[in-house]
Amino acid sequence: MNKSKFTVTAALPYANGPLHLGHVAGVYLPADIFVRFLRSNGHDVVFICGSDEHGAAITLRAKKEGITPREIVDKYNKIIGDSFMQFGISFDIFHRTSTPIHIETAQEFFKVLEKNGKFIKETTEQYFDEEFQQFLADRYITGDCPNCGNSGAYGDQCEKCGSALSPTDLLNPVSALSGKTPVLRSTSHWFLPMDRHEEWLRTWIKEGILDGKQQHDPKAWRNQVIGQCLSWIDGGLRPRAMTRDLDWGVPVPLPNAEGKVLYVWLDAPIGYISATKQWALDNGKDWKDYWCNEERKLVHFIGKDNIVFHAIIFPILLKDHGGFILPDNVPAYEFLNLEGGKFSTSRNWAVWLHEYLERHPDKTDELKYTLTATAPETKDAEFTWKEYQARVNNELADILGNFVNRALVLTQKYYGGKVSACGELTAEDQQVLNEMKAIPQRIAGLIYQYKLRDAQAEAMLLARIGNRYLADNEPWKLIKTDPKRVETIMNVALQITANLGLVLDPFLPETAAKIRAFVGIEAQSWDKAGSTLLHAGDQTNIPSILFQKIDDEFVAKEVGLLHASQPVAATDFSPQKVEISFDDFSKMDIRLGTIVDAIRVPKADKLLQLTVNTGVDTRTIVSGISEHYVPEEVIGKTVAVLMNLSPRKIRGIESQGMILMAENKEGKLSFMIPEKNFETGGEIR
Ligand code: MF3
Ligand code: ZN
Repeated sequence: MNKSKFTVTAALPYANGPLHLGHVAGVYLPADIFVRFLRSNGHDVVFICGSDEHGAAITLRAKKEGITPREIVDKYNKIIGDSFMQFGISFDIFHRTSTPIHIETAQEFFKVLEKNGKFIKETTEQYFDEEFQQFLADRYITGDCPNCGNSGAYGDQCEKCGSALSPTDLLNPVSALSGKTPVLRSTSHWFLPMDRHEEWLRTWIKEGILDGKQQHDPKAWRNQVIGQCLSWIDGGLRPRAMTRDLDWGVPVPLPNAEGKVLYVWLDAPIGYISATKQWALDNGKDWKDYWCNEERKLVHFIGKDNIVFHAIIFPILLKDHGGFILPDNVPAYEFLNLEGGKFSTSRNWAVWLHEYLERHPDKTDELKYTLTATAPETKDAEFTWKEYQARVNNELADILGNFVNRALVLTQKYYGGKVSACGELTAEDQQVLNEMKAIPQRIAGLIYQYKLRDAQAEAMLLARIGNRYLADNEPWKLIKTDPKRVETIMNVALQITANLGLVLDPFLPETAAKIRAFVGIEAQSWDKAGSTLLHAGDQTNIPSILFQKIDDEFVAKEVGLLHASQPVAATDFSPQKVEISFDDFSKMDIRLGTIVDAIRVPKADKLLQLTVNTGVDTRTIVSGISEHYVPEEVIGKTVAVLMNLSPRKIRGIESQGMILMAENKEGKLSFMIPEKNFETGGEIR
């Protein structure tokens, strides 16, 4: 492949909270894999990110935490930046949009557009919160999405269906400040007349053609991205305000614009440019080479809720300004779910990256591997700790770790760690070496198509092949009868090992570095992948274990943490009762009883008359569960029984004890059934 130039960006995360695994899987990790791969291929690449520090996302968070926007962005910029660093996301710069260089860049950009007549200044009616004396835009206002009905849509966007909205589009608008219905007031703003851009956008997105020139290959764009963009364009683009009435943001750089700042979705993407400027200053480069050079490919990694901003609005701005390249691709990711639910900051249903790294600082590649293997590339995907365990144990430990360990340990044992000589190759050896040669090319093909999940699976295929090769050839048996043959087998196995140190590098950089250290080679360019990297007599090293297995306790702990972090509304359950002594408790005789018969109590719609075998006797218990269980389904169940409750007559039937039930918030009842299959009579203490 010819050497190319790339500018790769990863969506600037709002500095209003930490990152969770959904963000990582659907933006930062794929971008990092892509960039690491490009670098190893010798392409000229810069990898840009930073925090998005303006907009209502920040000011609303500040209000919630009771601190200033400045304190919020400082706090989360640090948490996010540190977690990226620790996780090994290899940005060339992690910048901030609240820096002077950014503010100046964004203002300059705005002034050029304004001067060239690219905006329309208009006075319109906008929603206003009378209690807070503030105009409401973007996240300051919520309501029902006119397109999909989602009731939590924001004033600038519905995160459910992804459509771009204006506050006046929302049905049943509510102020996020006061919770009240806002009123309309007039104010003037600079609008981007997006409707004027429909035609060229359609051709550019559909065919990759701009100004009669082929700019990108539209077949390389994801279907979802093209589909979403075209449906918006076909639905008609409308002028969109590029300024806001707010006191936090980049001030509008024009006279008579007090109290007005740039719209955060104008400001933030320019953050990619200002970050590049800062990086170029720090590294003696010319930023224009990264943004204004036709030969360079601009790639934006984003989540699907960012498509309209990166594939429509930012390209309009870049083109209107002039002199900038437009994106070559906008690989957008779908959403990652977590243990059966959506990631949610407000409900605290999330695995936070910085907390994962705190708990498992030595397990970065385990997480990377699992997230890439389940990445939401073409549809929403799900992360579960069970799957994490299965991926680590069955794939990383049993296949990759096992193979690498065997190859190196046997080499230590037979040859004191020296690479054995390669004798005559059998057809099988040849076939394995051919695969080793073909795999890096296939990985490259997949990565250039942004199919990183498949690319990682290809890299793991090499480990599978190696593992199978050793299992099939059993050098540990052959060593007694055919030591010459074993030399060749071990040579082939080590060539595969060394190659794993190359092809895994974009995906599992720490593991790949360890493998290279085991076989005693340096990081190499991708062109070398597939070839025999080791020579007879080369010294290898004693390996350490690459992956520890994940036990069930680890999984249970992680799942437990997730549930433990769930906020419980105080009103949902009754408060704890008064304290009792152990003696009080031990007066209760609770045992496992098996229901052997059940009938409805005539004329009492709540009651069942149960016959219960308690292990010491068979007795009658009347239980108020008939709205929750029919007689047929309770027969045979082994449940918790309070034995020594004084008998009492219910509807003329003497009830000798009580069946213990759990109750949920809706008042539904459930038996307490032992989690293990325990026999009747067992005591509960
Ligand atoms: N902060 C935005 C989000 O989290 C992404 C901004 S990307 C940029 O959705 F292009 F605007 F920088
Ligand atoms: Zn919607």
